[in-house]
Amino acid sequence: MTTKNDPTRSESDKRDLRVFTLYEQLLEIEQRLIPTGLHVFGRPSQPAEQTDVLRMIASFDRPEAGAHALPALVAEGLGFVVSQASNSLASPTEEELRQRERIHAVISKALNRLGEDGIDAAIQSLETSANVNALQSRPVFTLLENISRQLETNNEVEALVKALRGEFVPPGPGADIVQNPLILPTGRNTHAINPYAVPSAMAYARAEAVVNKLLARYQEEHGHYPRAMALVLWGLDNIKTQGEGVAQALWLLGVRPVSDSLNRVTAVEAIPLDELGRPRIDVVMTISGIFRDLFSPTVQLLDKAVRLVAQLDEPEEMNYLRRHVQEQVLNGHCDADEAMTRVFSNAPGNYGTNVNFMVMDSQWQTDDTLGDLFVTRKCFAYGRDSRGQAIEGVEARAAMDSALARVEATYQNIDTFEIGITDVDHYFEYLGGVSKAVEKLASNRPAIYLSDTLSPDGKIRSLAETVRLETRAKTLNPKWYEGMLKHGFRGVAEIEGHVSNTFGWSATADAVDDWVYTEVAETFVLDQEMLARLRELNPHSAHSLVSRLLEANGRGYWDADPETLDQLREIIGSLEDQLEGVA
Ligand code: BEZ
Ligand code: MG
Repeated sequence: MTTKNDPTRSESDKRDLRVFTLYEQLLEIEQRLIPTGLHVFGRPSQPAEQTDVLRMIASFDRPEAGAHALPALVAEGLGFVVSQASNSLASPTEEELRQRERIHAVISKALNRLGEDGIDAAIQSLETSANVNALQSRPVFTLLENISRQLETNNEVEALVKALRGEFVPPGPGADIVQNPLILPTGRNTHAINPYAVPSAMAYARAEAVVNKLLARYQEEHGHYPRAMALVLWGLDNIKTQGEGVAQALWLLGVRPVSDSLNRVTAVEAIPLDELGRPRIDVVMTISGIFRDLFSPTVQLLDKAVRLVAQLDEPEEMNYLRRHVQEQVLNGHCDADEAMTRVFSNAPGNYGTNVNFMVMDSQWQTDDTLGDLFVTRKCFAYGRDSRGQAIEGVEARAAMDSALARVEATYQNIDTFEIGITDVDHYFEYLGGVSKAVEKLASNRPAIYLSDTLSPDGKIRSLAETVRLETRAKTLNPKWYEGMLKHGFRGVAEIEGHVSNTFGWSATADAVDDWVYTEVAETFVLDQEMLARLRELNPHSAHSLVSRLLEANGRGYWDADPETLDQLREIIGSLEDQLEGVA
């Protein structure tokens, strides 16, 4: 046992803990699923590209195929006790991490056997290395083999030609491959979702654990629950997950969806406080234009949930939404309808925040500009007023300003491994944009979180942690960037895009560590051989990448040493010469 009076021992314990934490982070990066190239239209995936996807698919129970999750089967076979504490924030123990590594290795081996020699060999492999009997593993491997076969066929070009000829293209669901493997084969006419089926029972069940973790994390860091949160809800994400983001909003408010006699989700009911066991959180929802267009009944559902909760006769310390609405009305700031407005989107027919364009074009002077732009674009209210009149995109800037002014945490659900927060500029335009707006209106930077509901146990990370993970797993990972560089011109543009999107997180949330820019510079610009490849393949993107690094320094996001900056300036000069045809 370590005692307080034993400084050497506690130093060594601290060192052990640091090494252990590092080990945990390394495993996380190593085992993260990343795209290792772009999809080429019409080209089937190669067997070697499939293993990681198959592993992810097999990490969930697939009741529709009678298949259990492989990690659970292997853990059971090896006699490991799996922690059931899905709401716990506790880090895994060293023993648990070792077990995870072992499970990972056993599954890798079996999946390799599946690819090389088929189902029976995979079953045999699992039986030998983890005592999993054939009756249990056959359904999983049958499912995986079927998926693998579908990944190896590709009718996209034929389907496109059919569509252009006006012929019938069979329909198929639109979803993430891990969430719903029935999206295969590709090359079908993608259909979306019935909004009256949102959120599904599965989405609502999964959302509970994530929301509990989110609130536990905030509480651990701040000593109390967040009194108000701002959520970003996107259309495509809620199609893919059948409304996981929507369900999270409902859980934060402490309500459950209710279906009508036609089995359509059209109402909500409050979960009693003694069952909920915590206060109801005030939730400000920023929905994308796509969500507004696709999920009209869901927009009404969310607005109904807010109005229901605001009018519950409950103590104010257990119902933050009610408290805020009452404060505003009693202070004479506005009427009850305005005080209950919580669902905001663009004006009808408009999309996006434009924060991304302003960042990409370096067109902002002061910090406040980006947050102001976000609210200007997104301050249109949707729902129904207390007389039952539809509100469809009524400008409500004052309502949005006062709702955001109370926000203590912002959040977005991430449900896919294909697109992360540095792959596209939309995450920072939305989550970054709303966080910047809150920073000004609440005079405090909010805590910013993302979930990772793609892993079976659903994780919560801070924005800064997520940026670090994405940087390690993608931008600076040779497996990722070499995969991109195989695509030549487009690949360099993807790398540059990642750097610019990372910069977007500096601009909107100051969430990027100095080392990120330093290592980007070292990997892509100061390495002569790499720079030569980039400028040969795509000098325009190479130029943008170096300019972005200099801008990061100029705007105070990156504290670079003077020699590095001199080198970057020299390289920019020579790239400009190259582009102008001087060199
Ligand atoms: C959406 O699905 O709502 C969405 C897609 C791309 C960018 C922003 C939002
Ligand atoms: Mg900094």
